[in-house]
Amino acid sequence: MRIGILNSGGDCPGLNAVIHGVVGAADKLDWEVVGFIDGFEGMLPPRRIMELDINNTIGIQKLGGTILGTTNKGNFGAKVGAGNVKEVPRDIIAKAKASFDELGLEGLVIVGGDGTLTTALQLYRMGWPVVGVPKTIDNDLEATARTFGFDSAVTSVVDALDRLQTTALSHKRVLVLEVMGRHAGWIALHGGIAGGANVILLPEIPFDMDVVCDAIQKREEQDQRSTLVVVAEGALPEGGAKMFHRAGGGSEFRLGGMGDKVATEIAERTGKETRAVTLGHMQRGGSPTAFDRILGTWFGVKAVQLIEEKQFGSMVSYMRSHVGAVPIEEAVSRLRCVEPDGEEVGAARAVGICMGK
Ligand code: F6P
Repeated sequence: MRIGILNSGGDCPGLNAVIHGVVGAADKLDWEVVGFIDGFEGMLPPRRIMELDINNTIGIQKLGGTILGTTNKGNFGAKVGAGNVKEVPRDIIAKAKASFDELGLEGLVIVGGDGTLTTALQLYRMGWPVVGVPKTIDNDLEATARTFGFDSAVTSVVDALDRLQTTALSHKRVLVLEVMGRHAGWIALHGGIAGGANVILLPEIPFDMDVVCDAIQKREEQDQRSTLVVVAEGALPEGGAKMFHRAGGGSEFRLGGMGDKVATEIAERTGKETRAVTLGHMQRGGSPTAFDRILGTWFGVKAVQLIEEKQFGSMVSYMRSHVGAVPIEEAVSRLRCVEPDGEEVGAARAVGICMGK
């Protein structure tokens, strides 16, 4: 038996742990594993693959990124923005299927976020024997309480806040940290709570600058003269819009800039010396945390089990300390966002964190 594996979309700490888990579990069954380079693109002519075995995957669960490479562009995009589904062109799928058949594959593990899993669903509906593994630092996939990569991203945010706090305290400044999170503010919320933020602004709770500045002034009156503000890149003011900028000076517009804008307004309105930092891809890079290595391994092993049981069209899912399976369809039906009135936001408010509203 031979199976394939690919990861597509943005990279994420823990991808190599999934590959390691798949290869290890497949080896026990005497199965061979073929990895496709740069996601689905590796299936297209000229085909780019890597034969994976336990010798060439030793210790990779510790490594960040992915040994297979990835892309969030290319021919297989099935989702535009937060929700609009588009069909992957039939001729592209036919070329990929030819590769799949020529390699004699009997199952394909597809590791990705919302967009990649939407492609996986289209392939499954066309009869491909696929199983999904949920990947994203954003933790915004429905039907799984956790995606691997999230814990590593949150750990980077906490590390940044720990560093920013010492300089903010010394200079009695406001430090604004912009973090990733386009539609869902999980990274900002968890990173902010764990890193001791005083203000957290999320895409799910449009903020009011008066409320933010009042919170800073109030802290000042209580002799708390430094403030840490965490802003998700997709946060927006009430009645306003998200901010975009040209990534790397290119023509493409990407989310970003709200941290700077919030910092400028705080400085203007409160007179406090304020600095802004954008954490950016620091959140996606580096070695995975122990939790992400374990979750990635567990997901990889479960994906092989699902292929063995021919549970195609399903995605591995982490719920209540258990890794099970759910239909891919359920996972991509909508994004899992922070509940503005949910328990976690409630806990943040309870310890005095201003949520901008
Ligand atoms: O979805 C993961 C993510 O890291 C988002 O949080 C972020 O907005 C986006 O990818 C960045 O994408 P790129 O690497 O293309 O700039």
